[in-house]
Formats: sequence, structure tokens, C-alpha cells
Amino acid sequence: MKLAGGECSRSFTAEVFSGLGEGEFYVSIYAKGFRVKLGFTPYPGTLNTRLLRDVDLFNKCLGKSPRTVIEPPRIEGARLAPVEAYPAFMNGYPVWIVRPQITVYKRDVAELVADARLRDLFGLKDGDRVEIELRDP
Ligand code: CDP
Repeated sequence: MKLAGGECSRSFTAEVFSGLGEGEFYVSIYAKGFRVKLGFTPYPGTLNTRLLRDVDLFNKCLGKSPRTVIEPPRIEGARLAPVEAYPAFMNGYPVWIVRPQITVYKRDVAELVADARLRDLFGLKDGDRVEIELRDP
């Protein structure tokens, strides 16, 4: 599927921030789903980024992107929600934007999953800016 051109063929500037330290736990739970549906083993965690501007446009463009839904494993007593994943590039590196169907974050946050630790790849610390570009899978 091709992304719509025009207003969505651009990159969005976002800022790195630290989360609640829960990403590692959650990505581990969904790791098998990432392997089966998206074909890679995710680094255990999410890189949290907050869009500096164009939040509405970003979410509109995300809505036009191909979506993969990753179902949670069945764990006795746990109530886990499906996670939506959208293909993107961060600073040119392939990543997946993940949107848990239940999350504490608002629509200005893009949580990134990748096959490598992005902070190490790009020497990122909190407050650094990155470029996020939506892509065809
Ligand atoms: O503590 P927080 O919720 O921000 O992070 P986490 O999801 O538990 O991930 C552990 C650490 O790895 C954090 O510093 C993330 O920013 C980082 N990370 C990364 O650099 N690249 C990834 N692909 C995933 C996580």
C-alpha cells in the first residue's frame, strides 16, 4: 500500500523522553507477536518521543498508514490490550510506531520499537530531537 503523498510525505520532529520504565516488560510480552507478524525481534523497550508540532497532522497521516494489530498472549489473570504498529523511519532507521489500545500517553507521543537500541545507535539522550517519517512496509 502506498502512503498518500502531499501533506504526509514529510518528516515530523519529535523529542526523546524517558517513560515509566514499563516498555521493556510490555515489549517482552508482545515480542512473539512482533516476530510472527512483523518478522523481527524487537529490542526490549520503547523509545518514547513527543512531537513538537503538527500533532493533528501526524495522527491523520498515521491513520492512513498500513496498520498491523498485534494481539496479546493469553496470560491467566492479566488484561492485556492489542497493540497497533505502523511502519516508520527514525533518522532514516526502520522502526515501528506502536500504539497500545490502552495507554497512559496522549496523541502527541510516538513510542518507537526497533530491532536495535536506538539510543545507542544515535547517541540519544532525553531532550534530543529526532525526525520521524512514515513509510511503506
Ligand atoms: O524507561 P522507559 O519506559 O523510557 O524505557 P523502556 O521502554 O523500558 O526502554 C528501556 C530503555 O531503552 C529506554 O532508555 C529507552 O529509551 C531505550 N530504547 C531504545 O533506545 N531503543 C529502543 N528500540 C527501545 C528502547
